[in-house]
Amino acid sequence: MAYLNDNYLKLKAGYLFPEIGRRVKTFCDTNPAAALRLIRCGIGDVTEPLPAAVIAALHKAVDEMGLRESFKGYGPEQGYDWLRHAIAKKDFRDRGLDVADDEIFVSDGSKCDCGNILDILGHQNRIAISDPVYPVYLDTNVMAGHTGEADETGAYAGIHYLPCTAQNGFVPEPPSGKVDVIYLCSPNNPTGAVATRAQLEDWVRYALANQAIILFDAAYEAYITDPAIPRSIYEIPGARDCAIEFRSFSKNGGFTGVRCALTVVPKTLMASTANGERKPLHPLWLRRTTTKFNGVSYIVQRAAEALYSDEGKAQVRTLVNHYMGNAAVLVAGCRAAGFTVFGGSNAPYIWVSAPDGVTSWQAFDKILHDANVVITPGSGFGRHGEGYFRVSSFNSRANAEEVSRRVQALRW
Ligand code: MLT
Repeated sequence: MAYLNDNYLKLKAGYLFPEIGRRVKTFCDTNPAAALRLIRCGIGDVTEPLPAAVIAALHKAVDEMGLRESFKGYGPEQGYDWLRHAIAKKDFRDRGLDVADDEIFVSDGSKCDCGNILDILGHQNRIAISDPVYPVYLDTNVMAGHTGEADETGAYAGIHYLPCTAQNGFVPEPPSGKVDVIYLCSPNNPTGAVATRAQLEDWVRYALANQAIILFDAAYEAYITDPAIPRSIYEIPGARDCAIEFRSFSKNGGFTGVRCALTVVPKTLMASTANGERKPLHPLWLRRTTTKFNGVSYIVQRAAEALYSDEGKAQVRTLVNHYMGNAAVLVAGCRAAGFTVFGGSNAPYIWVSAPDGVTSWQAFDKILHDANVVITPGSGFGRHGEGYFRVSSFNSRANAEEVSRRVQALRW
């Protein structure tokens, strides 16, 4: 008899975005006229075309694949040296951060890496997760058997939740007790909050004191314009000894459909064996990567490399400015409609407080039915997201302006 992974049966409903997709499809099927004017501000998926530098690099790489002399088969599982070098130098060393080329692991997505990283961490770790949170951190821990069952509020036994509320500016604080693995995301998905240097220093101090590891998701770092806000956890002294950083080309280069990301695992980062010996994690991640992954395609890695050219960097800046322009339009529209609004500066997500007494899913339904706009219900990100909804600024400017108008026309 074959057994299934019982942990999957503990998962609450579907993954948030497919669940939203299902509800939106039902709405569109039953309201074909409204479907024609539907605007999606739900999932944070980019809408603008790839930068010209990326298109040129893709064409060139495709042509290389068509010639015997330049054809490429399997590449290095952890990424081609030239891309790892470009990343380590331009994202880190040129900014004074100590990251070596071989500490960069190129992958097909941060979402995958955030889940896969659990392969090299022990099952006995106490896991701390923000609430609300990007659902991948929590669900992958459930799948890995790191939790008990969820209670009626959706909280899983065994997880240490870090409440993120308007009172703490949606940035979690280190707990008074001991945890071993901490997920941090700044700029934050879903709240759009950014952690200050002092807040990240507190976390690094906590992690070093407790021999804990911070899993730092920096997928939205390109959206930080305030020079005082750290774009990498490695800007904080000591972080090389306690943090893994995830980055993505999805939201800066528009690679959500192209697929390329990276994870930084410093060689100085240690964790304990079951009998208390301290060992580096880098060789484990290398072993995991070379065993379970065959690398990102040559063509896509050349495309990612193009983002680091002068032309590519300027085009990324234009893309980011475009989405941040949308964020400003959406923030202004939601405020004009009378909502209390968070995020939307240094981050592409806008976190909106629903009217008193209106739940997140009620707000979702109202906005879908009356404004024909898809947003994301805050409660889908955790209990402390209840009463909020998230608006994504990934859209055309015309759509952002139309959403702003429609939100102001709503009557609650
Ligand atoms: C989101 O909408 O939260 C993101 O697009 C999801 C992701 O990047 O995986």
